[in-house]
Amino acid sequence: MLNVEKKTCKYNEQACKYYEQFKAYAERILALSNDSLEKTINVALALCLVCAVLVSLATVALRPLQAHNKALDMKKNILDVAGLLDEGTNIDQAFKEKIEAKLVDLETGLYVDNVDVDDYDQRKAAKDPAQNIAIPVDKDIASIRAKAKYAKVFLVKNGDQLQSIILPVNGYGLWSTMYGFMALEADGQTVQSINLYDQGETPGLGGEVVNPNWRALWKGKKVYGDNGEVALTLVKGEADTSRPDAVYKVDGLAGATLTSRGVSNLIQYWMGPEGFAPYLNKLKSNG
Ligand SMILES: Cc1cc2nc3c(=O)[nH]c(=O)nc-3n(C[C@H](O)[C@H](O)[C@H](O)COP(=O)(O)O)c2cc1C
Repeated sequence: MLNVEKKTCKYNEQACKYYEQFKAYAERILALSNDSLEKTINVALALCLVCAVLVSLATVALRPLQAHNKALDMKKNILDVAGLLDEGTNIDQAFKEKIEAKLVDLETGLYVDNVDVDDYDQRKAAKDPAQNIAIPVDKDIASIRAKAKYAKVFLVKNGDQLQSIILPVNGYGLWSTMYGFMALEADGQTVQSINLYDQGETPGLGGEVVNPNWRALWKGKKVYGDNGEVALTLVKGEADTSRPDAVYKVDGLAGATLTSRGVSNLIQYWMGPEGFAPYLNKLKSNG
């Protein structure tokens, strides 16, 4: 011990001086009676310091694990909306084998190849003035204020054959901005599924957007009407299946008219000309 101290002193005189001062101080504090105010304050401070160091170390050490889990969760949401998630699915493997991520310039509807799609975070980009586009109030149907210039879409392919297109959507409900994915069949018109995976609506009311029974109602619905307008919408109560336009109507959520309106609005916005319509039109015209 003595040798180590000497060696430290040899190489770092100043550190050794501080160490000696600290040691003397600690010895003096520890020698005080347990009832002394000075000792109580010093022990409490030392405990705080140790805890702060431990929490900081844990935060830094767990950061890569957190990032991995976040990415895994997103892949799970995408596989879910694509209908590719079963119990026991190896998420990383299934995602790698079946899903291709692409960036789309929302204005032109063209793919963007000069930005690394794996590193791109659309939610972050939507909040960054250098990467987003402010939405004028009269066009902000989904009440989101700004959108990322580039959207990250996911293609589900079987070999060379496009099976479905997964589009990120978001819009304000009653209490929260809801984030999700909409999966369309390769025709860019027929709904496969919707997954509003991140929302803060009331559980049992607006929060029923995650209910599998309600989500199942979306399958087979059509997005665009005969004139290319976004016709898909939620209705108050149950959609009348005998009507010819039933293919464009989804049951509203009971006791959650405002959340339902928010879902209709986000569909209206993201499937429209300010959202994915230019991209979907290009896909359709390219066959
Ligand atoms: C505590 C509480 C939570 C509510 N949460 C929601 C909600 O998440 N989404 C929603 O649309 N309405 C919610 N509502 C109801 C709305 O305030 C409003 O009454 C409702 O949207 C009207 O729709 P309705 O005609 O379907 O009843 C909530 C009401 C209360 C009192």
